[in-house]
Amino acid sequence: MEKFVIEGGRPLKGEIKVSGSKNATLPILAATLLTDSVCEIRNVPKLRDTWTMCKLLRALGKTVDISGNQVTVSGSANTHVADYKLVSTMRGSFCVLGPLLAKLGKAKVSMPGGCVIGVRPIDLHLKGILALGAKANFEAGNVMATASRLRGAQMYLGGTFGSSVLATANVMMAASLADGQTIIESAACEPEIEELGNFLSDMGVKIEGQGTPRIVINGVKKLNGTSYKIGSDRIEAGTFLLMAVAAKGDIVVKDACYNHLLALIDKLHYVGVEVRKDGSDIRVRCKRTLRPANVVTHPHPGFPTDLQAQYMALMAITPGVSIITDRVFPDRFMHIAELNRMGAQIRRDIGSAIVEGVKHLYGAPVMASDLRASAALVIAGLVARGKTEIYRIYHLDRGYENLDQKLVQLGAKVSREKE
Ligand code: UD1
Repeated sequence: MEKFVIEGGRPLKGEIKVSGSKNATLPILAATLLTDSVCEIRNVPKLRDTWTMCKLLRALGKTVDISGNQVTVSGSANTHVADYKLVSTMRGSFCVLGPLLAKLGKAKVSMPGGCVIGVRPIDLHLKGILALGAKANFEAGNVMATASRLRGAQMYLGGTFGSSVLATANVMMAASLADGQTIIESAACEPEIEELGNFLSDMGVKIEGQGTPRIVINGVKKLNGTSYKIGSDRIEAGTFLLMAVAAKGDIVVKDACYNHLLALIDKLHYVGVEVRKDGSDIRVRCKRTLRPANVVTHPHPGFPTDLQAQYMALMAITPGVSIITDRVFPDRFMHIAELNRMGAQIRRDIGSAIVEGVKHLYGAPVMASDLRASAALVIAGLVARGKTEIYRIYHLDRGYENLDQKLVQLGAKVSREKE
């Protein structure tokens, strides 16, 4: 296993290019199961999670060629069974349920189970496919879904914590090959859902409203192949903005979609950071002492849960008190204990963290627990006095392409070493 070693205290300067979006890539790769024709997906980030999805497609019978950042998928799915070994390593792989069911009339997909960010139910995924006429039951830790023919239907897909990204994706893919019209009310509005809708549209599906709470899909008999470029990763871009702010930097984040990050940028403006849109780039500059601000995460366009941990690392070194509440994953606070080991003053309350900003964090050995929590530890390491060692960085490699190299390019002192 590898670790990151960070010598803190260097301001970040220069330009960095954002990679393709991980969360857009995963359902789009799954959607290639809907056709036997060739799909060419460009700007795919080189990450553990995207390779896991490629492995899963291969295990399902597809031919997958990887060349740099391009993935070409061809051939036909020849089994409806998505194995526990692959699905359990990545929750995102559950989005093969909808396309397998639509294409093969059945799908057996291992239930993803919980993870460190909390219980991860699948009721909305099931509600969606049942509304389309499928039958589903549980068998030895798997969901077994069958349907001789899926039929379009109107459905309400809102849950206790708002909309669900991957449940919306699963239903969109299943509805693409269903008879008639499907209307998803309270659909997830995340940009990654908009991208999936655009990809399905390129494949010949008649779809409207992707990126809004009401998606209308008119199913077709057969989908064609296509060539598609994945958009840039808004969470990676947001993470770089927060890294630059925390490390009192001045950077340009290239190929970053400003409009997808409005909730974060609004907060950064409030706390006293200069953030400017410059064509398809974002410039961020931070020289002065900031003021604290509370944050509550919500589904898009609200403040993303996937930036909550990184924002907490910034508040940990901002004088004053801030309250951070996660309404999407109320238990997503594994990073608190590790940040406190570096000198942060953060207390956990029900669904919230109370952060008292300190003057300095101090380097320490810390343990990455999940993808975004690890990014928060990197931010803490960049600003801490002394050396920080972050163990289990395979979590970071799941979602950030070449993070260490990109940080070095910005002037940070980061190295990847054997544990
Ligand atoms: C996706 C993202 C993940 C992000 C999350 C929320 C991918 C691969 N992952 O995960 O990075 O943190 O969106 O923006 O795109 N829920 C239910 N029932 C369900 C499904 C979900 O109650 O059937 C709840 C969840 O427990 C959570 C909330 O809905 O409280 C949102 O989860 P969801 O949008 O489904 O997350 P994912 O799609 O798994």
